Amino acid sequence: MNKGFARKSHTFLPKIFRKMSSQPKERPESLQFPFLDDEETITTIRESKTFFVIRGLPGSGKSTLAQAIQDKYKDACKIVSADHYKIQPAIRSAIPEDYSKVDEDLVDYCKRDVSVVVVDDTHHERERLDQLFDIADKYRYKIIFVEPKTPWKMDCLQLKDKNQWKLSADELKKLKPSLEKDFLPLYYGWFLSKRSSESLRKTGQAFLDELASIKVFRKESKHFGQPSDDPKVKVDLTSYFVKRPPGVLHCTTKFTDFGKAPGSEDYAQQEVVKSSYGKAFFLTISALFITPRTAGARVELSEQQTLLWPGDVDVLQPAVSLPKGSRAHVTLGCASGVEAVQTGIDLLEFVKLEKAGSKGEEVGEIGGGKLLSYGNGMWMLLLSKKIEVRAIFGGYYGKGKLVPTQGGSKRGSPFNACIII
Ligand code: 2AM
Repeated sequence: MNKGFARKSHTFLPKIFRKMSSQPKERPESLQFPFLDDEETITTIRESKTFFVIRGLPGSGKSTLAQAIQDKYKDACKIVSADHYKIQPAIRSAIPEDYSKVDEDLVDYCKRDVSVVVVDDTHHERERLDQLFDIADKYRYKIIFVEPKTPWKMDCLQLKDKNQWKLSADELKKLKPSLEKDFLPLYYGWFLSKRSSESLRKTGQAFLDELASIKVFRKESKHFGQPSDDPKVKVDLTSYFVKRPPGVLHCTTKFTDFGKAPGSEDYAQQEVVKSSYGKAFFLTISALFITPRTAGARVELSEQQTLLWPGDVDVLQPAVSLPKGSRAHVTLGCASGVEAVQTGIDLLEFVKLEKAGSKGEEVGEIGGGKLLSYGNGMWMLLLSKKIEVRAIFGGYYGKGKLVPTQGGSKRGSPFNACIII
């Protein structure tokens, strides 16, 4: 799309055409969302797998929003609306059986790898949301919550005349409290597009393979579970970093633990967090690193991205404070028994050494850049050409539990069979 041309040609057009050329500006304010208006976000969503989970009271404009998404993504999008299954929104003691039919259709779209699935329902019950999170995890979809922005979205007196179920103001009022509460994720972060994620995994894999094959590394292989430092023995780093992120790769900003972590509410309430939710960013990967515990990619944050970075996470206990954003990373893998949170801590160790003046020992150039050894099994590859990845800022809501991996684990795609972290 040549936006530059459209803008330049504007002044040459007769007045009558100018309005036509200024494209989707007619969209009402209540329908302005990055995934409808921002070209970079639309491109990133198109190369990802996303559930748009629309949430709100009956009559608040959910179906209009669902239709706007469908109009934007056309054949790449399917809508699953509870209305079509005649499921009436209500406070109830159990999730109606009818949802099994909804899920059948949902799973069918997932199996067909439809990029954008819009789930149109009130979504006022945690239990129902949990069912959706499980499906999303199983089929590796990302969740983006969307709420209508219509002025009457919480006004039960107006909603009573607009909702197709003819619910009374009193019935609507009963549904309201569960929709007023903000729903916080396990963590916020940037989630790579499926395409960028696959490409970064491959780059990480190539790095591990090459590192394992070089002599200086093999001499140090005792850090990676090898009984001897015999340079003739090749270390299998892929098997060593056995725990890998199951879905698309991500860069955590704030671990909120569903609102239980300190500072979660404050983080979620920030204007920049709210306005960036569901929006695309380009993340810059400047280095790849491994330690005996973790493998990761270092992320260099832009000024705008740093606004989304919490103030209290670049601290190495007991008391080393490092520059804002030092911890920004994408976990690629963890050794057995190591939790993903360790990758950020390991990166901070590198930064601490850098800050203390230790630039690491230059081992030489390998494919992709300059290899540095910091001792104790800490290796970093400074990429000669930084990698840009596409990512959507959002949240992860599932349980991060073990899910069955699909497909055979062919040689060459080592990330198929994995332990979920
Ligand atoms: P990471 O890979 O970016 O380090 C789910 O556990 C995810 O949350 C992990 O992938 C890890 O992300 C992050 N995480 C877990 N515990 C955390 C913590 N205490 N602080 C920061 N991030 C954490």
